Amino acid sequence: MAKDRRTYQVPRGFRDLLPDDVAVWQVLEATAAGLARRRGYREIRPALLEETDLFTRSVGEVTDIVEKEMFSFARGKTAVSLRPEGTAGIVRAYLEGGFAKTRPIQRFFHIGPMFRYERPQKGRERMFTQFDVEALGSTDPRLDAEVIHMAALFFEELGIHGLEVRVNSMGDGGDRDAYRDAVRAFLAPTIAAHCDLCRSRFERNVLRVLDCKNPKCQELHAGAPAILDFLSDENRAHFEEVRTLLSALGRETVIDTGLVRGLDYYTRTVFEVHYPAMGARSALCGGGRYDHLIRELGGPDLGAVGCAIGFTGTLIALEELGVKPQAVASVADGYVVAAGDDLDAEVFALAEELRAQGVSVVYDVEGKSVKAQMKGANAGGHRFALVVGSTELERGTVQVKDLDAGEQSEVARGDVAATIARIAGSA
Ligand code: HAM
Repeated sequence: MAKDRRTYQVPRGFRDLLPDDVAVWQVLEATAAGLARRRGYREIRPALLEETDLFTRSVGEVTDIVEKEMFSFARGKTAVSLRPEGTAGIVRAYLEGGFAKTRPIQRFFHIGPMFRYERPQKGRERMFTQFDVEALGSTDPRLDAEVIHMAALFFEELGIHGLEVRVNSMGDGGDRDAYRDAVRAFLAPTIAAHCDLCRSRFERNVLRVLDCKNPKCQELHAGAPAILDFLSDENRAHFEEVRTLLSALGRETVIDTGLVRGLDYYTRTVFEVHYPAMGARSALCGGGRYDHLIRELGGPDLGAVGCAIGFTGTLIALEELGVKPQAVASVADGYVVAAGDDLDAEVFALAEELRAQGVSVVYDVEGKSVKAQMKGANAGGHRFALVVGSTELERGTVQVKDLDAGEQSEVARGDVAATIARIAGSA
């Protein structure tokens, strides 16, 4: 029998969040949700799976994500994919929820897993968590600045400083067409020397040639035209306004003319927050404006801007800086200790009574001695041992022992919650 048994590991690029990891995760989630809620962003939880076509239409057919990285499969007649990013699904849900018609200006946030079939390496996973914020329904540059500032504050609240906020504008309409032509003209003389992927992208989506990670191709891209030189007056003014608004908040930005982002839906503002010490994979956050996506997905012509912060990179930055997020305690406060034999039913009932008062408690299920139970309470990291023997049962009391301070007091059963709250609160 035993011979046939095998063990299993979590698939490559995926990981489990064990309870101690979840405690750290919750700090990141609470920081994210606090920042978003203070700015009126409401939480949305879109589906994890969408029609593949949604991503092809929004992220773009000729992008790394759609060409190489989606977990796609067919169920029935529909090709579906695990979401590789959050924006497309949020816009789909916004339109399906009828917001575009009734209350078009919406601020949404979401925290959840995304899936990309990338080569796993430090900072890159196949399932990873993003904190996504999306301000939908407007082209007001204040929203660009709000989103960028919120992203930077997320890291600062966690204790990550020394970040670089890189910004660029992708233009829109006519200026984008002119830029595309200029890039095509720039690349044409050397395109034969590029890799296969670049050569195919040159025909299909010329701007994506500039995304190539191949060092030989990157060398050939040195000196490529910068889109900022092609911006219309209106788009230039929008870009400058975003930067001015950020400066007024004391938030400095660095113009990075090479910043084009790997998703097709962007127009005008694009940005990334980098932790330069992390080298090539230093982007902890990316985002920008996508003024045509709502229309592209069947809605009215409304602007939108947003970004996504990756938790994987955030945790690496925290580790490198030696910053430990103050994890939320996830161990039960109390351990009910049976001081005597045959008290199983009484301990069980007392535990539920205390839980009903709002105290988190566990109890021994291995028939341990009193001494071993006390040891278990200490080793398990519980703050209180809640001891009952026949005397306490008769008197309707519990011995509340504060394991941090080593102090003990006898308390009426109905007062345990208040006593624990008082002691823990005064610590
Ligand atoms: P993105 O740049 O593809 O943008 O991803 C945003 C962030 O997610 C990255 O900066 C990185 O920190 C993290 N990330 C991406 N892929 C991985 C991975 N394989 N493993 C770990 N972390 C990863 C978007 O996804 C856009 N939807 C952002 C956006 C929202 N734009 C407008 N609204």
